[in-house]
Amino acid sequence: MDLLRIEGGPPLNGVVRASGAKNATLPVMASALLIDEPLFVENVPHLEDVTTTNVLLAHMGVSVTIGDYMVVEADASTITQCVAPYDLVKTMRASILVLGPLLARHGEAEVSLPGGCAIGARPVDIHLRGLEAMGAEIRVEGGYVKARCARLQGARIPMDMVTVTGTENLMMAATLADGVTVLENAAREPEVIDLANCLIAMGAEISGAGTSTITIRGKKQLHGARHRVCPDRIETGTFLVAGAASRGCVKVTHTDPSLIDVVLAKLAAAGAEVTQGNDWVQVDMHGRRPRSVDVRTSPYPGFPTDMQAQFCVLNAVADGVGMVTETVFENRFMHVSELERMGAKIRQEGHTVRVTGIEQLTGAPVMATDLRASASLVIAGLIADGTTDVRRIYHIDRGYECIEEKMAQLGGIIRRLPDRAPVTARGVSV
Ligand code: UD1
Repeated sequence: MDLLRIEGGPPLNGVVRASGAKNATLPVMASALLIDEPLFVENVPHLEDVTTTNVLLAHMGVSVTIGDYMVVEADASTITQCVAPYDLVKTMRASILVLGPLLARHGEAEVSLPGGCAIGARPVDIHLRGLEAMGAEIRVEGGYVKARCARLQGARIPMDMVTVTGTENLMMAATLADGVTVLENAAREPEVIDLANCLIAMGAEISGAGTSTITIRGKKQLHGARHRVCPDRIETGTFLVAGAASRGCVKVTHTDPSLIDVVLAKLAAAGAEVTQGNDWVQVDMHGRRPRSVDVRTSPYPGFPTDMQAQFCVLNAVADGVGMVTETVFENRFMHVSELERMGAKIRQEGHTVRVTGIEQLTGAPVMATDLRASASLVIAGLIADGTTDVRRIYHIDRGYECIEEKMAQLGGIIRRLPDRAPVTARGVSV
């Protein structure tokens, strides 16, 4: 296992390229199960979660070929079994995304339940209820969801919570159902739109993706396609916050600033000069200390829960007091105790943390607890006085492509080293 050793201090300055979105790539790769022709996926980030998805597909007999730069070809015509085993699902909750496509295309699926998670209970009841409404018979036995159906039937599916992967799972399933499916209270995240675009390229008939009502008219079959996944808005936001917290100037290219309007508005409120073009965005603090900002997470187009931890760090060194409220997940403040070890003044009251900014954090050994919390610790290390070792970085590798190279490109002093400390527990998260 590795750790990241960071020498904090200098402002981050420079240009960095955004990768393809992890949360768009995972459902798009799963959609290959809907067809028996190749799906070519471009702009695929090189991440642990993408590797897990490829291994999962290969385990089912799908032929997965890593092609030229950032292109993956998945051909499910060779599929031999519709089983997603516990060993693969436990490391990545998004494995549940194979359930809908398998059921719709093959009439059966056996997918391990993702189980508990570091950031809250995160059940999949809405995925299962939706598939049942479409006529699937579902049993949960021995930790596995066992589902079967003749052909799924189109249905009206009201969802009582906004769920991103739930919406994606049901949208994929509905593309091959008999009749029309209407998903109500659907997630509006850009990654849902990206998946819909991929499915449409495969011949699916979908309208309303990006709104809270998605209508899908099922087809007898879909065909092969080529799709380029959208840029990673969370990675983009993470680099911009790193720039702002360090009082520097960071430009992110190959991205789409329109996907993070709400994050950019918060950075502007923190005192950053934000400039943008179609596919780039820059945040410049002109050497100034950021001002505290209040943040409340909610489903898109609200403030993303995946950016909450990074804003805790920004507030930790900002001028003033910032309130950060988490409404999407029940337990997503594990980074707080680690930041306190670096000197941050944070008090948690239920779903809100009150962050009183100080001039500078102090380097310390810290532990990554989930994917986005890990990114916040890297930012904290980069702006702290002294050395920070971030351990358990397998969380970071699940969702950030070459984070140390990219931060180093911005002038950060950060190295990956072998970690010889014993590991006692391993968690899973988003
Ligand atoms: C996705 C993202 C993750 C992001 C999250 C919220 C992927 C691969 N991951 O996760 O990065 O943090 O959206 O933007 O895209 N819920 C239920 N029952 C269900 C499903 C969800 O109660 O059947 C609850 C969850 O416990 C949570 C809330 O709904 O409190 C939102 O979860 P959801 O949108 O499903 O998150 P994911 O799709 O897993």
